[in-house]
Amino acid sequence: MNKKFFITTPIYYPSGKFHIGTAYTTVLADSIKRYHVLKGEDSYMLTGTDEHGQKIQEKAQSLGKTPKEYVDEMAKMAKDLWEQMEIQHDDFIQTTEERHEKIVQKIFDKFMEQKDIYKGEYEGWYCIPCETYFTKTQLVDGKCPDCGREVKRMKEEAYFFNMKKYADRLLKYYDEHPDFIKPEYRKNEMINNFIKPGLEDLCVTRTSFDWGIKVLKDPKHVIYVWLDALTNYLTALGYMSQDDSLFKKYWPADLQVVGKDIARFHLIYWPIFLMALDLPLPKTILVHNWIMMKDGKMSKSKGNVVYPEDLVDRYGLDATKYFLLREMPVNQDGLFTPEAFIERYNFDLCNDLSNLLNRTVAMVNKYFEGKLPKYNGTPNAVDKELEEYANTKIKDFEEKWNDYQISVAIQEIWDLVSRTNKYIDETSPWQLAKENKKEELESSMYHLVENIRKIAILIAPFMNDTSKNILKQIGIEKENLKTWDSLNYYDKLEDIKVTDKKEPIFMRLNKEEEVEYIKSLMKSN
Ligand code: MSP
Repeated sequence: MNKKFFITTPIYYPSGKFHIGTAYTTVLADSIKRYHVLKGEDSYMLTGTDEHGQKIQEKAQSLGKTPKEYVDEMAKMAKDLWEQMEIQHDDFIQTTEERHEKIVQKIFDKFMEQKDIYKGEYEGWYCIPCETYFTKTQLVDGKCPDCGREVKRMKEEAYFFNMKKYADRLLKYYDEHPDFIKPEYRKNEMINNFIKPGLEDLCVTRTSFDWGIKVLKDPKHVIYVWLDALTNYLTALGYMSQDDSLFKKYWPADLQVVGKDIARFHLIYWPIFLMALDLPLPKTILVHNWIMMKDGKMSKSKGNVVYPEDLVDRYGLDATKYFLLREMPVNQDGLFTPEAFIERYNFDLCNDLSNLLNRTVAMVNKYFEGKLPKYNGTPNAVDKELEEYANTKIKDFEEKWNDYQISVAIQEIWDLVSRTNKYIDETSPWQLAKENKKEELESSMYHLVENIRKIAILIAPFMNDTSKNILKQIGIEKENLKTWDSLNYYDKLEDIKVTDKKEPIFMRLNKEEEVEYIKSLMKSN
């Protein structure tokens, strides 16, 4: 049977247009999905919107809309953006859909029956104008962190999930499943900051607003945030419903991608909910860092917001995805600056990748009228070294990518691009032509085209159009030369004719002009 791969992104709060930071999670997940598709695996990706809560209710009211009208519009906006960014999700769940709400109610009842959920009192610092509770640590100078006004100590009846009961089981699970949390340091953060100091029970209902899923047996309560949101990963697959075939096929998830701000919910509450449901846990939860701006978080008030569609419109989808994925380190936040974006475009994409292709295609045309010579069975030392280098880099790429060190994996590909460019200088084909060293010249052209073919396949998960374009330009038509498996061989190119047109895939940009352009976008956003 085919290997399967099920991947999820967080479901998004529908609070406005998504900036490049919010889009990052989904671009990342999509690239990982595409990698598995390319490897021939039965891959399924889930995303959606997280549509309940007081803030959404208020926002809709302020716009003169019903909450449902508002969230539907927002969900459409999200779907449109994913379409423009060619995200290949297989399902999009809205938490206001019946298929979700009904099952969340069933799960709540099950937890009540199991005595995992109990009724108690929620006590906290309440901001009356904002109608929101805060914990002491959330307050800013003892006042509301949102509006700065006085807060009052208040209590209300609420249901709680007994997290403490599962703490030891969770620690044991972490210990026995080293692949469960990536990168590993996030596990230590959870243990040291939240579990060891004593896990608090989680409040799972509210009575102060009603835009949420009602508790069937106590309808003045609505099920609050995390029990509603996290369970989307199950309800979208039909868990506990009449048709649970997708659930049977895909659960447990192979990978759940989340940003660092929601790590705690996914690494502590989520596995505990799953344990309480007696379900297997996802194989890996990947926590990524944030894309930051020079002056901190992206925000409209700072005038530093960048929207993905603006970058896509001007620089193309592939350049945008390349930047986002390449610029995010594993252990710290990534930085977006207009300068860095344009430099990556000019250096990595134009100087390194596009020029390698152009130079190679031009030489095959010049020396062999566009027809690629066949593989020479006895490569010389320089050629052999290049072959070995390519094989090593492909291995390194897979190792890093499979460990979800995506930016490091992409760096491995660009090492191969640089090494292949260097090979042109090392073999100096123009010199070989002058000296009439036909065999060496043939071998040099073959190795260049073969490395470019491999590079094109390696970038396909995140630069799909560029990959196709490169393969077309170097005359790779047969499907079996475009597969992931075909990275394993070096000697199979035959009857290949490269393009006779000069079609650079990336053209050098004027740095000053483009930096100004991006800055003006940020100011107007
Ligand atoms: N609704 C919750 C998730 C519920 S999942 C059961 C939520 N939504 S969100 O819209 O606020 O965030 C969606 C994703 O965007 C999260 O993974 C979050 O970490 C990510 N990002 C938001 N800003 C980001 C950056 N600046 N950079 C990278 N990712 C960022 O959280």
